[in-house]
Amino acid sequence: MKIIMLGAPGAGKGTQAERISKKYGIPHISTGDIFRANIKAGTELGIKAKAYIDKGLLVPDDVTVDLVMDRISQEDCKNGYILDGFPRTIPQAESLTEALKARGTSIDHAVDVDVPDESIIARMSGRRACLTCGATYHTVYAKPVKEGICDKCGASLVLREDDKPETVKQRLLVYHEQTKPLIDYYRRENVLCTVDGTQDMEKVFLDITKTLGA
Ligand code: AP5
Ligand code: MG
Repeated sequence: MKIIMLGAPGAGKGTQAERISKKYGIPHISTGDIFRANIKAGTELGIKAKAYIDKGLLVPDDVTVDLVMDRISQEDCKNGYILDGFPRTIPQAESLTEALKARGTSIDHAVDVDVPDESIIARMSGRRACLTCGATYHTVYAKPVKEGICDKCGASLVLREDDKPETVKQRLLVYHEQTKPLIDYYRRENVLCTVDGTQDMEKVFLDITKTLGA
């Protein structure tokens, strides 16, 4: 099963992708998490990506496409995967479609987690992220067992640099301009499903699994 998560920044793509990954036993591939791990490790990719991410802009397509193509070629992806945060532009979607076509396959589901802009900024200020393992928490809706500490790996939780309200506003602008057109793109490909992302996390997950089946 090959799944794409669509939705605005903070819509809950990562939260739901993590659950889908566990239920269906397929890897969760978040381009944002890959960039953040590289920033933390101080790699060349991380230094390049940071300049864009901190401004709320997208990392250039060529960098991102190569990274994802390489990742989905790995052994653990042979039964499928969930792409979270990729594609994010029409050229990225076209590159993915072409690459899959060359392998005789295609995306099975594009899940759009729909949340209006008004709810996003409030949601982001409460998010706490683990930059070591990529886990996501919320100060109200998804608390860790021990405040400030990741349940999964024990690292400290932080407010992401790009979750400051000014940067979130910029990310929303970029989303509407460059990423939202993907909804129509995948509707035309007949793989789009939209879920109401303003519901609680369990209900959103239930709606997604209904679409994906068993
Ligand atoms: P990325 O990390 O992908 O950021 P994003 O798309 O802006 O999405 P987020 O991770 O911020 O939100 P999310 O939808 O995963 O929500 P979450 O589940 O955490 O990318 C970061 C940057 O990297 C980009 O801005 C760009 O610069 C670059 N980049 C990445 N991919 C790229 C690409 N393909 N091309 C170019 N550049 C790229 O949930 C948010 C919060 O809400 C959490 O605290 C969560 O606990 C809470 N929450 C979730 N669901 C609910 C619910 N139902 N009710 C209440 N709270 C909820
Ligand atoms: Mg995310």
